[in-house]
Amino acid sequence: MNKYIGIAGTNYSKSLNAKMLNFIKKHFAAQADIELLDISQWPLFSKVDANLVPEAVLKASQKIKQADGVIFATPEYDHSVPAVLMNALAWLSYLDQPFNAKPVLITGVSYGALGTSRAQEHLRKILNAPELGAKLMESQEFLVGRGFQTVAENGQLEASLLKELDQQFSAFETFVAAVKKEGDQ
Ligand SMILES: Cc1cc2nc3c(=O)[nH]c(=O)nc-3n(C[C@H](O)[C@H](O)[C@H](O)COP(=O)(O)O)c2cc1C
Repeated sequence: MNKYIGIAGTNYSKSLNAKMLNFIKKHFAAQADIELLDISQWPLFSKVDANLVPEAVLKASQKIKQADGVIFATPEYDHSVPAVLMNALAWLSYLDQPFNAKPVLITGVSYGALGTSRAQEHLRKILNAPELGAKLMESQEFLVGRGFQTVAENGQLEASLLKELDQQFSAFETFVAAVKKEGDQ
């Protein structure tokens, strides 16, 4: 069974993205072990000496390094990712670089119709930075628009989205296996 780290790019207590990520963890529990990482309380990034990097960042970095992949659920703020997610990625890219060659699945819920498409496009670019260097599936998109209607209180998605999520997850598992095989060669 693969182990994944789930990161909701939010510090909002009622976040639909956090709910959806929780749901993803439960929904795929028989196929994968998904551990959720809380980035909401990390201090604002600054270029400190290595011995002053926060403990939470070091722990998260270790967990990401050991995981088979990372699943993001990002809200969209002003056509980009929330500052709390950018902050976490700055910390994680600073010294340790645990995302290097790590397979990543990107998801996101918005209130509007576009389902965080612009935030996800930015996130792909950010994750392509040399200090992050994640492995992104070509043309992978899981966009959840009109979140108040399509995401239930427990994070469960409406049927057509759930089917799409199952397909995306299965494609991601295949991608993770291919990346592993590449690494073994
Ligand atoms: C500062 C701010 C900016 C926002 N900008 C956008 C935006 O550009 N596009 C969008 O679809 N929703 C925007 N929203 C609305 C929602 O926060 C957004 O749809 C989000 O993805 C909802 O996810 P959440 O429930 O996990 O916070 C914005 C909200 C805030 C507070």
